[in-house]
Amino acid sequence: MVMERINRIVESQQYWDYLKMIEEHERNRVYCNHGFDHAITVARISYIYLLEQGHRFSREIVYASALLHDIGRWVQYENGEDHAIAGVRLAQDILADAGFSTAEIEQIVTGIREHRVHTGELASPLGNALALADDWARDCRNCKVQDTCHKFSLDMTKVNY
Ligand SMILES: [Fe+2]
Ligand SMILES: [Fe+2]
Repeated sequence: MVMERINRIVESQQYWDYLKMIEEHERNRVYCNHGFDHAITVARISYIYLLEQGHRFSREIVYASALLHDIGRWVQYENGEDHAIAGVRLAQDILADAGFSTAEIEQIVTGIREHRVHTGELASPLGNALALADDWARDCRNCKVQDTCHKFSLDMTKVNY
């Protein structure tokens, strides 16, 4: 099923400019990278998870939020601003250009803003799904830098989902 507006994001120059900047900043990073493969994996996992939980999100809303959730990473590398907050700002134009309405953009950026909230208590269902999928998208079991990764826990070596 073709998702027209999602493909507009994926074809946008702005999106790839940001991904390229992230790639350059992560060239010597020993921890996880934040390229397109991570974004699309988070999209697929979070959409399945939301379906299982009985939430009726539009697939485009979930994919847009997931594809853009780490887009602010390069800002964080450059000036220390939280990438979730920077991402909300950077996503606005990309989403408007792709044809999302103001109300849809508000939903999508809520997911981006909340993708680092892990307890579930403060996060919306979309933010919570992105936070979970963010971890499930990684192969922590075989990670060589577990010992020093701030996100790592033994639970992450188990197949949880
Ligand atoms: Fe992130
Ligand atoms: Fe992520």
